[in-house]
Formats: sequence, structure tokens, C-alpha cells
Amino acid sequence: MKKRRLGRTDIEITPIGLGCWQFSQGANFAGRAWDTLPDEAIRCVVDAALRGGINWFDTAESYGNGRSEQKLAEALTALDVKPGAVVIATKWQPVFRTAKSISSTIDRRTSCLGRYPIDLHQVHNPMSFSPVAAQMKEMAALLHAGRIRAVGVSNFSARRMQAAHDALAADGIVLASNQVRFNLLDRRIEQNGVLETAKKLGVTIIAWSPLAQGILTGRFHEDPGAMRRASGLRRIMSRLSPGTLERTRPLIEELRAIARAHGATISQVALSWEVVFHGETVVAIPGASRPSQAEEAAAAPDLRLSALEISRIDSLARS
Ligand SMILES: NC(=O)c1ccc[n+]([C@@H]2O[C@H](COP(=O)([O-])OP(=O)(O)OC[C@H]3O[C@@H](n4cnc5c(N)ncnc54)[C@H](OP(=O)(O)O)[C@@H]3O)[C@@H](O)[C@H]2O)c1
Repeated sequence: MKKRRLGRTDIEITPIGLGCWQFSQGANFAGRAWDTLPDEAIRCVVDAALRGGINWFDTAESYGNGRSEQKLAEALTALDVKPGAVVIATKWQPVFRTAKSISSTIDRRTSCLGRYPIDLHQVHNPMSFSPVAAQMKEMAALLHAGRIRAVGVSNFSARRMQAAHDALAADGIVLASNQVRFNLLDRRIEQNGVLETAKKLGVTIIAWSPLAQGILTGRFHEDPGAMRRASGLRRIMSRLSPGTLERTRPLIEELRAIARAHGATISQVALSWEVVFHGETVVAIPGASRPSQAEEAAAAPDLRLSALEISRIDSLARS
């Protein structure tokens, strides 16, 4: 998998990373969005991702209050992955907190991640009590102290992203990334200025829920009964409903036809579209509950969709 630069940093990442929210083991409210994966299953998912060529992992404090970070580190250790051999992205949880807690929680982040250093530290959402500039000042201090290598934000609007960029620039640091929801069913960043601003500033867009939590794999279209087994949080977040399945069926059928022509899967076509349509600006972090899903995701960038296929997918998704 050909690597790309994370923003204007010297960190190189594959166009597909592995989302690790799925490793939360139900340890808090957010963690209950997914079925609990036993340690052995997590190890196998991480192993499949690495074997497929994925070189980075996205986790967060809020995924099980650090459980996802711990389980990721345990899996990497069990697989004998050397510290620094993979890129680790995690996030500070800002809700009901001031910027000061970025530095007061960093020891906990590093202890959860064990031997693995934090490459990218992100502000998870724009809901801190403190202004963006104060948050970036704390992040800059961590970077200058060598605790993290790069700074990112998540779910930031174009205006907030610019503010974060400007505040970091005053400290001689680049804003590496903005992690936002982007997939074939949710393309708001193409209209609300986020994508345009990211391109202008050289900021990487890290697309979360790139498979619309499974809708863009066709699995719910093939087996609508599976919807009942999905958690409430997942159904709400991805608007998983019979109406959504009906509305998206033509797109799924088109993805299926293209996948067949390439000997690939629907999810691979969706991921491939996502990481090529906007050049190198967008990378994606699909989550996986099984090794085969991580394997499929890792192979998605090998697909070579034609220009005609890419534009057919684009126009069908728009309609
Ligand atoms: N920054 C933020 O605010 C934010 C928000 C959400 C997520 N994220 C990050 O983004 C990552 C990915 O987003 P996400 O987990 O919401 O959604 P996603 O990647 O769109 O969907 C992942 C889920 O889809 C199913 N799946 C994956 N590959 C599949 C395949 N090949 N065939 C069939 N089903 C497949 C699996 O669920 P089942 O096997 O259970 O069906 C998997 O857990 C997270 O892990 C997290 O790191 C960040």
C-alpha cells in the first residue's frame, strides 16, 4: 500500500488505517455501540490489518475510557510489533473539560498505550469549555516536550480548523488532520467548507465511519434482520433503518456490479472511492469486528477503479 504524508508532517501513513473503537469491550457508554470482542479476537483483527499492510491505528480516550488504547497496545505487544514500527493516533476527550486536562491526562494515555508512543494526538470534538487557541497551546506544549509527534482535531468546522491551524502556526507547528464523518452516504464536508479548507491548509481529512457502520458493505441490504442486532447507538449514528436501506439500494447495487467486475467486495469499492476521489487529502479508518473485515479493508487501495466507475459512483451517491 503506497503511503501518504499525514498533513504536512513527516509521518507516513497508508490510505487505510484501522479504527479501534471496536476494541472498547463495552467499558463505557460509547464502548457499548459494538459487541464485546475478546482479547484473542482483537489480536487477530490487528494481525490481519498488519499483514494487509496497514501501518496505523486510530483509538481514543473515550473508547471505553482507555480500554481500546490498552487492548490495541496488548495486541501489538503480543504480535511482537516494535514501538515506532506503527503509527498510533489517539484522542483527548474534551466534553465538560478545559484545555488544561490535555496535559493532565497525557500520562494516562501513554500508560494505556504501554510501549507505543503517540504519533498523532487529536481533540475529539469541539465541545471543550476552553477556546480552540488554548487547546492548541496545550497540544503544542506536549509536542515541544516530545510527548506526541503531531496534532490533529476531530469534528471541527472549517472555521475552527482554521483557528486551530493559526494557533499552532504561531508555535511553529502544522495542524496535521481533521477527523470527520465522510462516506458515500454523508458528504457534508464537500459542501460546508471543511474539505476545501483542509486542501488549502494541507490538512489530511481522516474519514470516520467510512462504511457507514456497515451499510456500505451491503450486509444489511442482504440481511435486513441484522438491523435488530445492531446497538441503538449504531442505529442512531448511521441512521440504520428500512427506509435508509431502500433509499441506498440503487447505490449498493451499482457498487456490487463494480465490485464483481474487479473480483472485489462492495466495501472495498466504497473505501477505494473514498481514498481516491479527493486525491491524497482523504484517508479512511474503517473499524473491523473480524479479521476478514480488516483484511478486506487493507486490500481496498489495491483496487484500480476506472475514471468512469469513480464518476458513476459519485453521481449515484449524490442522487
Ligand atoms: N472522531 C470521531 O468522532 C469518530 C466517530 C466514530 C468513529 N470514529 C473512528 O472511526 C472508526 C470507524 O468508524 P465506525 O466504526 O463508526 O464505522 P465503519 O468503519 O464505517 O464500520 C465498521 C463496522 O462495519 C462492519 N464491517 C466492517 N467491514 C465490514 C465488511 N467487510 N463486511 C461487513 N461488515 C463490515 C463491522 O461491524 P459488524 O461486524 O459488527 O457488523 C465494523 O465494526 C472507529 O473505529 C473510530 O476509530 C471516530
